Amino acid sequence: MVVMPPTDERSNRSDPSSDPSSPPGAERSTFASIRRLYPYVRPALPRLVGGLVASLGASLMALAIPRVLQWVTDGPLTAGAREHDWSGLIWSVVLVAALGVGEAGLILLRRTLVMFPGTRVEAVMRMALFKHLQDLPVAFHDRWPGGQLLSRIMGDLGLLRRWLVFGILQLVVSFVTIVVGVALLVVTGGWLGVIFLCGAIPVTILAFRFSRKYRKISRLSQDQSGDLATTVEESVHGIRVLKAFGRGTDALDSFTDQASELRETEIRKATTDAGLTTALRVIPEATQAVALVVGVYLVAQGDMTLGALVAFFTTTAVINGPVVDLGMTLSMTLNARTAVDRFFEVIETVNPLTDPARPADLPPAGSNDGAETGGHVAFRNVTFRYDDAARPVLDQVDLELPPGTTTALVGLTGSGKSTLAMLAPRLFDVTAGVVEVDGVDVRDMTRAQVRERVAVAFEDPTLFSASVRDNVLLGVRDDLPEAEREALMTQALEVAQAQFVLDLPDGVGTRIGEEGMSLSGGQRQRLALARAIAARPRVLVLDDPLSALDVTTEEAVTARLRDVLQATTSLIIAHRPSTVALADRVAVLQGGRITAVGTHHDLLATDPHYRYIISSLEQDYEAHDGENPPPDPGDPRSDGPRNAEPESQEALS
Ligand SMILES: Nc1ncnc2c1ncn2[C@@H]1O[C@H](COP(=O)(O)OP(=O)(O)OP(=O)(O)O)[C@@H](O)[C@H]1O
Ligand SMILES: [Mg+2]
Repeated sequence: MVVMPPTDERSNRSDPSSDPSSPPGAERSTFASIRRLYPYVRPALPRLVGGLVASLGASLMALAIPRVLQWVTDGPLTAGAREHDWSGLIWSVVLVAALGVGEAGLILLRRTLVMFPGTRVEAVMRMALFKHLQDLPVAFHDRWPGGQLLSRIMGDLGLLRRWLVFGILQLVVSFVTIVVGVALLVVTGGWLGVIFLCGAIPVTILAFRFSRKYRKISRLSQDQSGDLATTVEESVHGIRVLKAFGRGTDALDSFTDQASELRETEIRKATTDAGLTTALRVIPEATQAVALVVGVYLVAQGDMTLGALVAFFTTTAVINGPVVDLGMTLSMTLNARTAVDRFFEVIETVNPLTDPARPADLPPAGSNDGAETGGHVAFRNVTFRYDDAARPVLDQVDLELPPGTTTALVGLTGSGKSTLAMLAPRLFDVTAGVVEVDGVDVRDMTRAQVRERVAVAFEDPTLFSASVRDNVLLGVRDDLPEAEREALMTQALEVAQAQFVLDLPDGVGTRIGEEGMSLSGGQRQRLALARAIAARPRVLVLDDPLSALDVTTEEAVTARLRDVLQATTSLIIAHRPSTVALADRVAVLQGGRITAVGTHHDLLATDPHYRYIISSLEQDYEAHDGENPPPDPGDPRSDGPRNAEPESQEALS
């Protein structure tokens, strides 16, 4: 299990001086780390092993060629010249050609075998990661920057595929070729083989030191790529704000700094890699030079045949390639290990908001049939504290929402209204206490059961780059007849006063841009409202659903919303007096608690904090809408201590 690292801890990893052993899993060996891939690689294993066998076969054929050459040099070549016996020579040429062709055929076979499973493993892991990201709670996404997730799901898994289709086979083949080749050299070359073997000592030491150093730089580089992706994502997302405030250059500066940091890390990576590759080239060459001198001496002394000397150097030529490749394949393996670690950091993050082992036996919600009645919602003694927050936002909140009623939730900014609203659809779990829907703790329902019953429209209306229809019907069951789905959409669009979509180029089939960017704020809000209404839930949670609408549209939506809300239990977070007017009752959230519940009139008469809130809402409302009077004729300002109240929840606490 991985503990989710806080954002600042993660960005520390981008600091080249930070302790690179800090990332989770750093203490594992590379083998132990990569072994975790087994469940994903298992289905592809037969083909990967087939590819490995083909590669090994190709290498062994390459190693056999020098043996044939030795035999040719010492046998038919010498004898052929003397005794005019050419048949042995011709057969040896045929054999060398056959070995060459066989080697090429096996390399082709390897490529064919590993290409398909490599891409399949990548796709399966990518889907698993995305599925897990969808499953992880909102709290996870609050803490992990998008770029880090993006770089893991795209860059890291691409790296892993390349290693699977090429790196791992190459590593094994290089290793086996070197071991078999050196063994052959020692057995057939005698002292020359021992000289060559001496070169393995510095190579091994260097490879170990390289691994330790490269692993840290590789982690740093991949984390920095993630940070860079986050910066790109944020600046593209916030391009309007950056442009409006003329801060494009600042964004560029910060991007340039991060990109330069990444470049420096990449240079360090390449330099480390180049150091090893150079050593792997120089050490065998040096041992070969010594072996040449000794070899010539031995041949001259008659202690070695010329054929054996030729075979020795042809074999070292075959080994030299894999020795140099070892540097590249080792760095690929270490990069793959980092990718595996980063993948498992996310995939092993345990979701605390899971379905219960024995879900409550509830009748199907029967939503979307239009005949739904409201659910009963109860917040009992609910305390909620965000992870890492010093104090709870909600402290022993008690609130009942009787079936079919509409309750407005009011409170100062930052008092925890949106937080409370997110507990009903179980986007967060309570720290203490219980949230019940129809008498059942939401933690005893599956998430599907909860979402069938509770629909939400958030403050910030997120729309997807899909058609208007798909956006609005997001919460509607797919198995309903198409005509029924269409009717639900039409009604929801009408209630939310979102008929403007009919004027779009393709009507409800029009694809709206990323996050609905091509629509105005009020248009997006109305579509988000339509989406919540179309789901026909037993419980509807609306977080300030009308804030971006002009007064006329708001009145039209309000009038139609009353009809919908009659059939549903609703919790409406209100920032405008007109929204409060929709409600049967009002609940006041203050200091993390519900301090009063009652009708608008009763609360005006009895609750000073409510009078204060309403008076500030009205001021705000009048400031924005000028001549429009508040919907309630009562004059909350007549005796309200509004100037005596603090301006925000933060000031209260
Ligand atoms: N994801 C989060 N992690 C940590 N703290 C949070 C998070 N979201 C909100 N908070 C804090 O919780 C408190 C309540 O926030 P919340 O969004 O519920 O207020 P609100 O009543 O909806 O305010 P507003 O009227 O401005 O929408 C605030 O102090 C806020 O800083
Ligand atoms: Mg809010």
